[in-house]
Amino acid sequence: MTARGRYIALEGFDGSGKSTQAEMLASHLDAVLTREPGGTPLGEALREVLLHAEPSEAPSARTEALLFCADRAQHIATVVAPALETGRDVVTDRSYGSTLAYQGYGRGLPLDELRALIDYACRRPAGASGDLPDVILPDVVVLLDVPLADSDRRVHRLDRVGGEQMSLLETAPEAEQSADHSEEEPSDQRPDGGPDRLEGEELEFALRVWRSYRELCSAEPDRWVLVDATGSIDEVAARVIEAVSTHPAMAD
Ligand code: TYD
Repeated sequence: MTARGRYIALEGFDGSGKSTQAEMLASHLDAVLTREPGGTPLGEALREVLLHAEPSEAPSARTEALLFCADRAQHIATVVAPALETGRDVVTDRSYGSTLAYQGYGRGLPLDELRALIDYACRRPAGASGDLPDVILPDVVVLLDVPLADSDRRVHRLDRVGGEQMSLLETAPEAEQSADHSEEEPSDQRPDGGPDRLEGEELEFALRVWRSYRELCSAEPDRWVLVDATGSIDEVAARVIEAVSTHPAMAD
């Protein structure tokens, strides 16, 4: 009987180089390369809605979480589970960690509710091999860790919202490090309080998401592994390959 494949996710803040690294890892492992959102025809349609909605049509925070999880359910059922069953490894560019980071810590949706939604989306599809776990989460999650300044275009607005990155990082309230689970609407849906306020809110969102990744990584040390994503593409790729190939979940 063929042993099932391994499921590996690359996670990280926007601009951490995940897509390139996912491609290089998949090629090294001869794995199926896929992504969330996307990865299926339905997922690509959801991706378009999620990433390119007109501001006036932007989904509410909960709608957004449901759509990302709908994309994930389709992805698991039609791409990931079938590949794993045949013994292929699968590498995905983003997975459930993005929902916890962006919708949980970023938007402020309760993490326990999101985890329940994720489990529902990732349940082994009916008829799939019993060798697959009941809930198909990545066996390994690689967190590509980049300094905030290198990572996201939003951060380059720092100059316009006041001061240097380090001073903002240092003065940002500690409380932001753990999610404030009061529900927020997505920033692009708020009544506009003027460009400075909007940019400040976007920055806070970005800071919450960026910080949350390390927290998520330490919360699940058996699954997540932190990889320094600074340096050349090849240097990072070598670190990713080393981290994945030595991970206990990859052992036969
Ligand atoms: P994408 O272009 O794939 O990411 P990147 O910025 O890494 O190039 O865009 C995906 C966006 O969707 C990204 O901003 C993170 C977000 N996202 C969520 O908010 N929740 C999720 O569950 C997923 C999978 C992605």
